Amino acid sequence: MNELLKKLEKEAENAREKAYAPYSGFKVGAALLTKEGKIYQGCNIENVSFTPTCCAERVALFKAVSEGERNFRGIFILGGKTETDICFPCGVCRQALSEFCNDDFEIYLRDKMGNFKIYKLYELMPYSFKEMR
Ligand code: THU
Repeated sequence: MNELLKKLEKEAENAREKAYAPYSGFKVGAALLTKEGKIYQGCNIENVSFTPTCCAERVALFKAVSEGERNFRGIFILGGKTETDICFPCGVCRQALSEFCNDDFEIYLRDKMGNFKIYKLYELMPYSFKEMR
């Protein structure tokens, strides 16, 4: 893993520590990298009535978009009940990411061996709906 990815992983770990997940116990942290090199952190935020719960990925994305960011390079996601769990982004987050990110946007995950794995958005979200533009 190169230095930038290590930094991104650290930021995702840092974000995960702030997760508010009293109902599932499933803490997720995300670190979203812009094309200019800025990093936005996000953690999952749960709610007692469940539906308002927001995933870490969308928290990071919406923070960034609300700050005017539109160009993204990748996102590091860490999550689960244990340190070695792997957390793929849910379908809603894949759709939200596909609104702003190109097919070559990268999704960085840490596997159970502690190695990281890279997926492209098109692998996880092929044929995404973008037709209304
Ligand atoms: N969660 C995320 O934050 N990101 C994902 O990609 C999957 C799920 C959160 C939502 C909820 O707070 C908890 O994990 C269990 O689903």
